Amino acid sequence: MTGVTDHKLRGDYSRMRPDHTVDQDWDAYSEAEHALWRRLYARQAALAPRYACEEFNATLATLDCGGGIPRFDLVNARLGLATDWQLVAVPGLLPDLTFFEHLAHRRFPVTVWLRDPEEFDYIVEPDVFHDFYGHVPLLFQPMFADYLQAYGQGGIKAHALGAIEMLARLYWYTVEFGLIETPGGLRAYGAGILSSGGELPHCVESAQPHRIGFDLMRIMQTQYKIDTYQETYFVIRDFSELFAATAPDFTPFYAELRDREPHSPSSVLASDRVLHRGTAPSRAA
Ligand code: PHE
Ligand code: CO
Repeated sequence: MTGVTDHKLRGDYSRMRPDHTVDQDWDAYSEAEHALWRRLYARQAALAPRYACEEFNATLATLDCGGGIPRFDLVNARLGLATDWQLVAVPGLLPDLTFFEHLAHRRFPVTVWLRDPEEFDYIVEPDVFHDFYGHVPLLFQPMFADYLQAYGQGGIKAHALGAIEMLARLYWYTVEFGLIETPGGLRAYGAGILSSGGELPHCVESAQPHRIGFDLMRIMQTQYKIDTYQETYFVIRDFSELFAATAPDFTPFYAELRDREPHSPSSVLASDRVLHRGTAPSRAA
């Protein structure tokens, strides 16, 4: 996820470099932390074949990271060869512009710390399990990898234009909570659901949330909630739809959207391509 929040951040920001990166210090992880990672991984990897998109599953199998918290340097050797991306270790959430600068240079920031055992089911701030398990597999997918870099470049521009809020909604409803249509039915490609034990089955199977066809302008006009399961998921047909829709210069889009009232996370519009109309508000995550 992105964006610095109001509350005090949890990571240790005292030792970071000017670009906000740190050393992963893999030797400092305890055996209890590796054991917690194994439990988190086992739960999610058991759900993935049924609920995650094929591109995610294909890469996850080759990453071989179920045995403990992975070493970023070892993954980087392979990721560089695959799509020319690199993981960089960070203390936690970053300022928007810093985050965009990393993405624009094909560097993905991964938080170094792991959640506490009490946070097995739910965590507010992204930790190494969310950042690595949820985001890294799709960095191996060439078109998605290019999308994330373009998003970072677009973020630098949106920052200059005062349009980060609109662009952040796009990240939320695609990179974090996106669904994709496949021959086997709807699947998740968003990291926020891929790393969640509860929301991953929910987003595909529950009758509660709306599922609406991807629509760039609609998404950038739609608010989102960060503390419940999503009330609306947006569904892409394939990664090329996402890539093509986001290729144009957004400057005129921001100008157009600026004067419009935002949509609530639960509304369905007459112009929506409705794949499923939700039955009820979703419960707290
Ligand atoms: N094309 C967008 C712009 O000009 C940038 C962007 C690309 C945003 C890909 C999101 C995803 O601002
Ligand atoms: Co995330």
